[in-house]
Amino acid sequence: MVAQKIRENIYAVGALDRDRKLFDELIPLPDGTSYNSYLIKGSEKVALLDSVDPPMYGKLLENLKDLSVKKIDYIIVHHGEQDHSGSTAMLLKDFPDARLVTNKKCMSILIELLQVPESKFIVVEDGETLTLGDKTLQFILTPWVHWPETMVTYLKEEKILFSCDFFGSHYATDELFFNDREILYPAAKRYFAEIMMPFRTIIRKNMERLKDLDIEIIAPSHGPLHRQGDFIWDAYKDWSSEAVKNEVVIPYVSMHGSTGAMVKYLEKALAERGITVKTFHLTESDLGDLAAALLDAATIVIGTPTILAGPHPNIIYAAYLVKVLRPKLRFGSIIGSFGWAGKTVEILADIISSLKLEIIEPVIVKGYPKESDFKLLDGLADGILSRHKEL
Ligand code: FEO
Repeated sequence: MVAQKIRENIYAVGALDRDRKLFDELIPLPDGTSYNSYLIKGSEKVALLDSVDPPMYGKLLENLKDLSVKKIDYIIVHHGEQDHSGSTAMLLKDFPDARLVTNKKCMSILIELLQVPESKFIVVEDGETLTLGDKTLQFILTPWVHWPETMVTYLKEEKILFSCDFFGSHYATDELFFNDREILYPAAKRYFAEIMMPFRTIIRKNMERLKDLDIEIIAPSHGPLHRQGDFIWDAYKDWSSEAVKNEVVIPYVSMHGSTGAMVKYLEKALAERGITVKTFHLTESDLGDLAAALLDAATIVIGTPTILAGPHPNIIYAAYLVKVLRPKLRFGSIIGSFGWAGKTVEILADIISSLKLEIIEPVIVKGYPKESDFKLLDGLADGILSRHKEL
């Protein structure tokens, strides 16, 4: 991505990473991502807001050279995670007069992660401002979007909110503003589910703090920018709420078809009762899609065969992810098949116990499901329906 002008003397100078396959060695990136860095040239001072993931530093430097940037006075660090802060030490070598501007918590993270000397920092408090001459930066602490030290910057004169991870999306595009909502909405939703969902209570509080700002542009540090009135603000209100939908998510594995037959039957039984069902065969599915589905669902039903006396390892992995993503789910159940014995239900129930779901009677059958087993699945579908009606 070449440097792009957002407004007079305000530029996007970050990098696209179209080929990155995983974020945090965990989250699939089907559309790549971007590390957005922004340059603001004030009448007196120049500020760079966030850097890029270290392997992309050359691209950031190239963009700064294209804009003939000889001096940076302030490097604003919104977040200590290395996809934004990781090039900071290299920047300080290339722009030795620059000072790092961040909050106290972020400073200590950067000292630990990047071994930057404390003398390089200017520490700012919540609400503090910094003038660039004709432009004023206001810093607002927004903890837990996505780490405890995260903050955002409001450029007062231009009404631009530089929001770092907040309101971002893992979507690599050359277009500064990407107007295809059909594509960007699911990308932003998936990103929210993967990164923001566990912190939705505090995200609501942070949105409350930002809601009175007059914002014309939201400039996140991943994905395209948003104009006032775009979907992103209302979508965040929806996604961060505790409201659930009449939906069931079924992540499952089937080794020899028994559990698969149960899932297929339950999927049909639920659909016949007017419930939306999303199934994910975990050996084929993208875990990001599963996370996005969990953002809306009232119920999860985990389907697993019994292997070595417990759930399939892929199911254990998925159940742990569900536990740490902390979706809004209210109800849960477990279905599956076993050959001789096992502790599948106990193991899975223990993994997801912190979610405090109401567990609806699991259906665990011996071998391939029989007529009586399918009746139990009808009973499970009825149980889910009656609970969803009470929502
Ligand atoms: Fe995009 Fe939490 O870093």
